[in-house]
Amino acid sequence: MSKGDSLRVGVLGCGHWGHNYVRVFSNFPEVTLAGVAEPIPARLAVASRTAPGAFTTTDYRELLRGGRCDAVVISTHAATHHQLAREAIEAGLDVLVEKPLTLSEADAADLVQRSKQAGRLLMVAHTFLYNPSVWKLKQLLREGVLGDVYYLKARRTHLGMIREDVNAVWDLAPHDISMFIYLLDEEPTLVQAQARCMLRKGREDVAFINLQFPSGVIGNIVVSWADSNKERWLDIVGSRARASFDDLNTAEPIRIFYKGVAVPEPGDENFGEFKHLVRDGEIVSPKIAMQEPLKVLCEDFVASIRERRAPVSDGELGRKVVSVLERIDRTLGKATPP
Ligand SMILES: NC(=O)c1ccc[n+]([C@@H]2O[C@H](COP(=O)([O-])OP(=O)(O)OC[C@H]3O[C@@H](n4cnc5c(N)ncnc54)[C@H](O)[C@@H]3O)[C@@H](O)[C@H]2O)c1
Repeated sequence: MSKGDSLRVGVLGCGHWGHNYVRVFSNFPEVTLAGVAEPIPARLAVASRTAPGAFTTTDYRELLRGGRCDAVVISTHAATHHQLAREAIEAGLDVLVEKPLTLSEADAADLVQRSKQAGRLLMVAHTFLYNPSVWKLKQLLREGVLGDVYYLKARRTHLGMIREDVNAVWDLAPHDISMFIYLLDEEPTLVQAQARCMLRKGREDVAFINLQFPSGVIGNIVVSWADSNKERWLDIVGSRARASFDDLNTAEPIRIFYKGVAVPEPGDENFGEFKHLVRDGEIVSPKIAMQEPLKVLCEDFVASIRERRAPVSDGELGRKVVSVLERIDRTLGKATPP
């Protein structure tokens, strides 16, 4: 493909989420939606309504073979990701895989290695890394606005969507784990979790996850698809301020609370009394220029292919996230994921 040529992108899997890729890539500058592969004909019909005239097939191999595509998006069930991504790399294509990259770290490492050897791009759709609110959190950390980071906590709860192929940890926690790794620039050394199967045997519907990072920062994530309270938030608590990202609050997704508590230093007038000093400051909600994260993610995919550079959410980040998920499974006493 030479510079200026239209990039031909195929989409594998046109379910609830894959349909969004059909929508985005059918309206993308300098990209041609080269085709959609989906075994359920009714879903292919939906794709055809969104992208009239696009090539459709029930056999994904028709998209991988025959020089029809330069790159593919894999938005199928997690259990199929490793096999499909492997075949796409072998077919010489650049690949964007939905989260979680695979269901084992060994498979994730295998894809990272294969893509390197083949000189192909491997990207993982950790959508929150393309969310302007998360960029704001990263900026606050970079500029030291929050002070020393004490801990991170995140909640991702609601009723469903309950998946057949993975548990709530593998379905929901990749979002929070990818954000924690991206924000802190480090991977957890300690992983602990408690979980419970309520709806079906052997498939966890709720999990309380604790993480510890080399810097000393600790993290807590609660995921559940059996909770009537819909929550989608992440808090960073620091020595100077707390930043709160509420993904359900479209008007004010980020709020910074300049409040905190400190131990008096020798010389402070309160030192003799060992009183904690409570600081009561302002609450600021910075303006966030919202963009659709999936669209921004697709832009990074296309630009990375054209410039032959690593995307922000590369295969290695996907592998790190899978490594944490696998360690969570181990603390739950599960031999094989998910
Ligand atoms: N990044 C995000 O924010 C986000 C949000 C939702 C889902 N997801 C991820 O997207 C993926 C798909 O989720 P979903 O909700 O669309 O699931 P879904 O079950 O609605 O859709 C999956 C589709 O893949 C199709 N499929 C299965 N095998 C195939 C094959 N070999 N070739 C082509 N198509 C095949 C199925 O028929 C189905 O239509 C999952 O990995 C999920 O974790 C990501």
